[in-house]
Parts: sequence; structure tokens; C-alpha cells
Amino acid sequence: MADEPRVVLIRRVCRRDQLVDGGHAVTFSISRPGRALPAFAVAYDESVHAFVNICPHRGTPLDWQPGEVFDESGLYLICATHGALFEPDSGRCIAGPCQGAHLQRIPVEVVDDHVVLKHDVLGDYADR
Ligand code: FES
Repeated sequence: MADEPRVVLIRRVCRRDQLVDGGHAVTFSISRPGRALPAFAVAYDESVHAFVNICPHRGTPLDWQPGEVFDESGLYLICATHGALFEPDSGRCIAGPCQGAHLQRIPVEVVDDHVVLKHDVLGDYADR
């Protein structure tokens, strides 16, 4: 019996050119059973990364203004509540009250000049 064809639904987050290294984030939400989670996508070192917008310290959003999640240097993500700093590529906290903890990563990729989520990838994410 042949395998069923794999259906992968793609959801666009934004155009790739909307994200500038160390600049403004594009915010969006992802669905988990029973609730939506805030999320953001950023560019850093010419790659795109996305995370759930919930600080591992106290569970607040990182933004100090909507979509503003980088510190002044543009090298680290910063939590507006207590100033924890996170690596933009791994989401690991490198300074602050949750040092060593991680933001929850959302796998994204660039397809046809758009940043996209794949629903099957989100399913994997939801199981973690
Ligand atoms: S809530 Fe983010 S550092 Fe405290």
C-alpha cells in the first residue's frame, strides 16, 4: 500500500523584506488547543527566527513597544519587564533573572520571499 501523500499547510507570517536584522519584529499568534499564544518573528544575522512572545521569567511579553524586542545594540532580544537578554538565534537567556532559560522557538522558514509557518511543524511544536 502506498503512503498517503503528506499534506503540509503553509501559513504566511510576513514578507521576508519586512524584517531587518536587529530591527522591528512582526507579531502574530499561533493556536494551541483552547488558546492563542502571542508570537514574533525577527531577523538576525541574515536569518529569520520566531518565538512565543512570553518571557520564561514571569510570563510577560518581551516588547517594550509593540514589535520592539531588540535592545539598543540590535544584538539581543530584551524583556521589557526586568531586562533579561536573549540570543536572537537560539532564544537562550544570557543575562537577567532567567539566565539559562529559553524562549519557546517556533520553526519558520523562508518560502517564495515570505516567512512561513508550516502547520505540521506547529503540531510538533504543540507537543513539546
Ligand atoms: S518577566 Fe522577563 S525578565 Fe522578568
